[in-house]
Amino acid sequence: MDRTPTQQLAAPGEGSATLPQGLIGHVPQHVAVIMDGNGRWANARGLPRTEGHRAGELALMDTVAGAVEAGVKYISMYAFSTENWKRSPAEVSFLMGYSRDVIRKHTDRLNDWGVRVRWVGRRPRLWKSVLKELRTAEEKTKHNTKTELLLCINYGGRAEIADAARDLAQEVADGKRKASSIREADIASHLYAADVPDVDLLIRTSGESRISNFLLWQLAYAELDFVPVPWPEFGREELWERLQAFQDRDRRFGGAIDAVGEDQAPTS
Ligand code: FPP
Repeated sequence: MDRTPTQQLAAPGEGSATLPQGLIGHVPQHVAVIMDGNGRWANARGLPRTEGHRAGELALMDTVAGAVEAGVKYISMYAFSTENWKRSPAEVSFLMGYSRDVIRKHTDRLNDWGVRVRWVGRRPRLWKSVLKELRTAEEKTKHNTKTELLLCINYGGRAEIADAARDLAQEVADGKRKASSIREADIASHLYAADVPDVDLLIRTSGESRISNFLLWQLAYAELDFVPVPWPEFGREELWERLQAFQDRDRRFGGAIDAVGEDQAPTS
């Protein structure tokens, strides 16, 4: 769907599209999204890359509205990676300033929709003004229970695991635990949003088939869905299509087929 910047953003349940019946009560708990293709979308229209990011704002909000309407409990959005600092200083400044403005502009709306906003990422280098808006949004929306929106800003999957390892090493050095006692669950409990369940479905737009250092630990058994549309053309209807496609996936978590078959033949 191609959108104009002036297009109205519809609240959950108020858009022109109807939620497919089959999704009601049957959606993944945690959906993660790599919002890719803003720059290429803009280039294809002879526009500066920043216009692609501006168009991505509406896609972001429409997708969140779709997640709320469908009953997705957690949606993680990759807005700025620890590697994005390597972009041109002008684009980095734009992305930081724009993220701050987008959060400020939409916090009350997200609150009305019953969304709890949470920041996931690393403190060093993150602009103070961005952190301030994130903290304000977190505080205002902390009692909401419909959907949690995890904004991954200055986030890197390897950095998150390294931070967890450092915390655990410190606990060993302080005599609080033994190195030999460390289990997978201890790493998991030291991640940035430790209470959030693993990702069920990862969606990446714009046709690239990469994870790009996103939620490495949490994606261990996620279904990966790489869709060709650039991020500015994604929205609630495209999300619902991907949720429907997810229903046809056969998830095994490394185990055997979960059905009465040759592994579990009835004995009678
Ligand atoms: C990837 O496209 C997109 C980004 C790095 C930024 C996404 C950010 C927004 C949509 C702003 C939303 C703000 C908040 C607070 C979540 P790209 O630039 O990598 O595109 P390309 O691969 O075509 O160059």
